[in-house]
Amino acid sequence: MDMYAVLMQRRSIRNFSDQDIPADITEKLLDVANNAPSGGNIQPLSVILVRDKANRTKLAEIVGQQPWVRNAPLSMIFCLDFHRVKRWAALNETEFKGEQALSHFLIAYADVMCAAQTVALLAESYGLGSVYVGTIQSNMDGAREVFAIPEYVLPMMVLSIGYPKSRPRTIPKLKREVITHNEKYLMPSDEEIRGAFDAKYGNFSAKAEEYLEKAFVETIEAEKQGAEGVISEVMKEMQRLEIRNNAEFLFKLRYPTDMMVMYNKRILDSFRKAGFDFWS
Ligand SMILES: Cc1cc2nc3c(=O)[nH]c(=O)nc-3n(C[C@H](O)[C@H](O)[C@H](O)COP(=O)(O)O)c2cc1C
Repeated sequence: MDMYAVLMQRRSIRNFSDQDIPADITEKLLDVANNAPSGGNIQPLSVILVRDKANRTKLAEIVGQQPWVRNAPLSMIFCLDFHRVKRWAALNETEFKGEQALSHFLIAYADVMCAAQTVALLAESYGLGSVYVGTIQSNMDGAREVFAIPEYVLPMMVLSIGYPKSRPRTIPKLKREVITHNEKYLMPSDEEIRGAFDAKYGNFSAKAEEYLEKAFVETIEAEKQGAEGVISEVMKEMQRLEIRNNAEFLFKLRYPTDMMVMYNKRILDSFRKAGFDFWS
């Protein structure tokens, strides 16, 4: 299959079989992570492999009880690692202050995600599936404690990997034209924006479960994997908050926007605890 076809079929997989990933495939996944592009080729990246059942359970707890993290045979914690770089600089009687430089941080986070996505795509080409789990960013302290992550290292992303048991079929995307601008940014009208998202999510008043399959497939998967009552809880919340459309669903219920802003403090505290400070 050509690369375009592989990438157009890719979906986040949350339903994994018990089949282990052969060691040589895991090694290849790590090879491509290590061979990924890196700003200045500094490679401020460490990848923690989580395969042990007890550690998988701990990681699932850290990221907010996402069952696929417990069930995947392998999760990789992608860490932004300035520890190794700082130590190397110091050994060479020079200083590296990446933990204070926003520009170093932004490039390093891009490096980390280039590596993670390279792994996700190679995994896909081997018939594996994967899902990113970004909620580790809300509990970096917990992850640092459980996985013995030192100062100047931030666990930024989890990628859970395994052989898929099933694939979601109804994940909607914007039309290609919506994200494309030729030569300069083309300002959309209100109607174009409304139309773009209406076309993506479809009719809000469709049956609730069908709607969740498109807009919050995690609830459907979590319920299938033992998190009883998740779907009915979300439906109750939809009624309580009188959710009337797709945007309200996303930013009042799923990612309540004021709460997202309040998370800043927690995230900045975690940064500080890890020795990072580029804002004061
Ligand atoms: C940065 C990032 C963080 C994500 N975090 C989570 C997560 O915590 N849990 C989860 O189940 N999926 C997570 N996902 C997967 C998205 O939900 C998924 O990509 C999205 O629904 C689109 O589906 P697709 O990947 O099949 O196109 C994350 C994806 C990205 C890129």
